[in-house]
Amino acid sequence: MSSDPRGVLIVDLGTQYTQLIARRVREAGTWCQITIPSKALEAAAGMDLGGIILSGGPSSVYDDDAPVVPEELLQMDVAVLGICYGMQWMCRTLGGEVKASDKREYGRVSMRVVRSEGPFRDIGGHTVVWMSHGDSVAALPAGFETYAESEDCPSAAAGDPARNLWGVQFHPEVSHSVRGREVLDNFLTHICGLQGDWKPDSIVDREIAKIHQIVGEEGEVVLGLSGGVDSSVAAMLLNKAIGPRLHCIFVDNGLLRKGEREAVEREFKEHLGMDLVVVDAGKRFLDKLAGVTDPERKRKIIGNEFVEVFREEAKAFKNAGYLGQGTLYPDVIESVNVHGGNTAVIKSHHNVGGLPDDLDMELVEPLRELFKDEVRTIGRFLGLDGTIVDRQPFPGPGLAVRIIGEVTPEKVALLQEADHICTTEIEKTGEHLGLWQYFAVLLPVQSVGVMGDHRTYENACALRIVESADGMTADWGYLSRETLQSISSKIINRVRGINRVVLDISSKPPSTIEWE
Ligand code: XMP
Repeated sequence: MSSDPRGVLIVDLGTQYTQLIARRVREAGTWCQITIPSKALEAAAGMDLGGIILSGGPSSVYDDDAPVVPEELLQMDVAVLGICYGMQWMCRTLGGEVKASDKREYGRVSMRVVRSEGPFRDIGGHTVVWMSHGDSVAALPAGFETYAESEDCPSAAAGDPARNLWGVQFHPEVSHSVRGREVLDNFLTHICGLQGDWKPDSIVDREIAKIHQIVGEEGEVVLGLSGGVDSSVAAMLLNKAIGPRLHCIFVDNGLLRKGEREAVEREFKEHLGMDLVVVDAGKRFLDKLAGVTDPERKRKIIGNEFVEVFREEAKAFKNAGYLGQGTLYPDVIESVNVHGGNTAVIKSHHNVGGLPDDLDMELVEPLRELFKDEVRTIGRFLGLDGTIVDRQPFPGPGLAVRIIGEVTPEKVALLQEADHICTTEIEKTGEHLGLWQYFAVLLPVQSVGVMGDHRTYENACALRIVESADGMTADWGYLSRETLQSISSKIINRVRGINRVVLDISSKPPSTIEWE
């Protein structure tokens, strides 16, 4: 049995919402793990099981390649909540009937709660929920009662309190289900009796205990610190666990934003007193990039050079047998591959920092079971500076993928200034709070302008301002006219070499967020 708190096992049956369910459960203060059907029994046996959630999925229970869920999950003496496909599978398995509905229910639907009990404790009358299903439960298994109904779905929610089995046809995890969080909270707190003990202090204690378990009393760890939120919080946890036995390496590749290296040195070296080596490798990277214009080649050169620099620097720490990494939970969750039937694929960006396996070091990944929002919470809890915790994402290849065409030291300097103006002007107004990223891109375009009595022929830069939840899809974001005006006039007046500022108003897809 693990040392994890009592928690919930979420069985992924193919929905795109599995991680969302897990985040909602964690937000409610409950530890949970995601698993695939074929590993569900093993996962259940390995945890202090407080409840099971069966996710939705795109299959019909009648499909040949529908996920095969072990029926033992319904006899584990803990509450089970089936969501959408999970409910249909449970009801059919227990002798109920699932049918293709006459009408597909998709989107916001008004549902009437008929029993304000169980998951619907303190919830009554009509409430709006998010539905997305073709099939539905036409006849409930013996022992089940209807708890909610909608016009097209007579059993929008059902349950058997005696066996502690529950099903909802709607998606409580989706924010469009107005009282969805309460439904999940009722399940976790009142039905499963879980304590809500997944909190920053207990998370930190747990991760520190795990670090101790891996590296022991004397092990030393080397960590590539980028200054991004993941490696920074990993460094904070490792520092708290092993102090001077942690050695951080920050590679200044000459492609960083203005003031970035200084901010990292200030926070980790001066403020937190960590052992931080800053490698001044800008010239190496820029020499290798000379004459290169192809975006993929640029990325490869920078990735390879990073590995080389890191490898050389890490050699200095002869006693370090461990490599710290800021790998997050979404990078390692196994999920059901709905396109390839019931097989499991690992969505793994193992070695997310781009380091090779042959470093001959054992990995320590203190964020491996955490979501990004939890990492930020832990960072704040440990006192990490707000500018790092809330930092916008910044690509590994840095400004090189924001300088279109060849990268030269002069262009890097131009873009650093323009980007600095862009970010500080936006942050001054607070308009950055709803944005995912906001930055400048240097274009290989020159155009004519006037400055005083002189004609200029200089570069153009683009502003890329985007809203996104996870970087997978994105929309261009709005800025006030005043902010756009001040960014534009400050860049053109102060950055010698840029005489035109344009606005990128492309969504992703089809355009990507970064230009290269
Ligand atoms: P794209 O350009 O693909 O970017 O729309 C999606 C998100 O990923 C970030 N990005 C990267 N992050 N290393 C990273 O750590 C990279 O090489 C990289 N490339 C893109 C990008 O900033 C955006 O948030």
